[in-house]
Amino acid sequence: MTPGRREFLTSALAAGAVTWLAPRGAQSAEARIDVLVNEPIGTISPNVYSHFVEHLGGVVYDGIWVGENSKVPNIGGIRRALVEHVRRIKPGVIRWPGGCFADQYDWRDGIGPRDKRPRRVNFWADTNYKVTEAYKQLKDGPQKYEPNWFGTNEFMQLCRLTNAQPYIAANLRSLNVRAYLEWLEYCNAPAGLTTLSDMRAASGERDPFNVSYWGIGNESWGCGGDMLPEEYAEEFRRFTAWAPTYGTKLNFIATGPNGADVGWTRRFLAKLVEKGSGQLNKVHTLGLHYYCGTTGKGNALEYTEDEWYELIHRSDRIESLVTQHWTIMAESDPQHKVKLAVDEWGAWHLQDPSLPAGYLYGYPGTLRDALISAVNLDTFQRHADKVAMANPAQLINTIHSLFIAYEDKFVATPNFHVFEMYAAHSGAQAVRTEFVAPRVSYMRTVNNAPEQSQFWGLSGSASLNGKQLTLTAVNPDANNARDTEINIAGARVASGQARVLTSSDIHAHNSFASPNALEPKDDPVTVGAGGKLVYRFAPASVTRLQLTLV
Ligand code: AHR
Repeated sequence: MTPGRREFLTSALAAGAVTWLAPRGAQSAEARIDVLVNEPIGTISPNVYSHFVEHLGGVVYDGIWVGENSKVPNIGGIRRALVEHVRRIKPGVIRWPGGCFADQYDWRDGIGPRDKRPRRVNFWADTNYKVTEAYKQLKDGPQKYEPNWFGTNEFMQLCRLTNAQPYIAANLRSLNVRAYLEWLEYCNAPAGLTTLSDMRAASGERDPFNVSYWGIGNESWGCGGDMLPEEYAEEFRRFTAWAPTYGTKLNFIATGPNGADVGWTRRFLAKLVEKGSGQLNKVHTLGLHYYCGTTGKGNALEYTEDEWYELIHRSDRIESLVTQHWTIMAESDPQHKVKLAVDEWGAWHLQDPSLPAGYLYGYPGTLRDALISAVNLDTFQRHADKVAMANPAQLINTIHSLFIAYEDKFVATPNFHVFEMYAAHSGAQAVRTEFVAPRVSYMRTVNNAPEQSQFWGLSGSASLNGKQLTLTAVNPDANNARDTEINIAGARVASGQARVLTSSDIHAHNSFASPNALEPKDDPVTVGAGGKLVYRFAPASVTRLQLTLV
């Protein structure tokens, strides 16, 4: 595409000129994607494909840890089906042990012989936050009373088995700097050096774990201490001053804002650099958390078509959050040394009552959640220069999970399928890509009054790996396919292949009874004369196109 045409589209979009609405029931409409392969954005960090595991509900017990003597197939106590699936999606890091749980966790409880470890009240045991009556009535079980069977060594084993890097969130609220430094020593000091590294060696782990990613607290503005940003900045400086490396580069993740709270970002960084701009070298990333919530009655499986649109639209807010915080960060960090880690993201529905009572916020996600996953991942890729890490909340059995497991039953949710489709982007070069399509419109309720709303009708991202172009796109329109002309500026498409996740039912999901109800399918791509490419994006779909360029 010529620069002139591109400028027209960009300015027309900015001016709101290209906002024609698709009439409901229309079969097709004009749409266009321009992939500007000569306009690189940045390398898509493999850590954009990271994960998050917290001792919350059924995540650790029995999502991950089933025990060595379990009838559930396992590798050293870790659920085998989970390991095999996670390997397939090329994980970046796995964040553990929380979440809010992290600021209540004493790592010393989770080492040594398993049968000697103490039992503690789990952070989430007495929560009243969106819990079922059955959960409240629960009197016992590892989901409420932490047995510490899954501790540091077991977490490292999970990381090794899945080829992920460990990211440990240190306890800032209820333990001191010394406890965190000792955890670091237990993990990273060579055997024979200290009493703690010898304890690790004696437990069968002679080689250091070389943990590079350390979170300094979690949500310190809320469950992590109700701090002011200035107070947190002081704590961050104390925790990160003179942390021994033992030969491993330490990457510190600072507690970042809750959604749109730009005040946190501004005040934290401003206070941090009062001690000098060199402090910025200690911040690998600033953690941003954004949950787009739920709609209607909060049920993961039941929603109207308008509620489908509303939640996808809300998830799209992630883009303005990334750009807004990025702009504010420049006030104290004009060279942008510090990047963003969106280390909690996803939709958050109510617990599905068909799951065991202890499975706090557990539910099988639907096609709607899959589109939300794709919206988030595409956004991180369009901002590959800003987002260095991203972790959906959470890996298994809670919130925006990739899997649901109960005893010997295990199922991949539609989110998993998006991660598998999108893994082709990991480590590739993100390139600027522009989408023009009819917008979708729907009704939502604001202050008890109906209101019409609208948003884009096709969006996505693209990345280049040698001559292989991966283009992913979301068509949120529940009824209309999008016939789309795809132009690759400065290159020609030789061949292509598509993989599509969609269903005629916008509530489609997988369950223990029907584990393969919603799976992606391959779709041939026909390249026309001269490399011309027109592709029909199915309604309510996530699509990955893999194109070989010449
Ligand atoms: O992911 C669940 C919880 O949500 C995390 O523990 C907390 O950090 C966030 O508020």
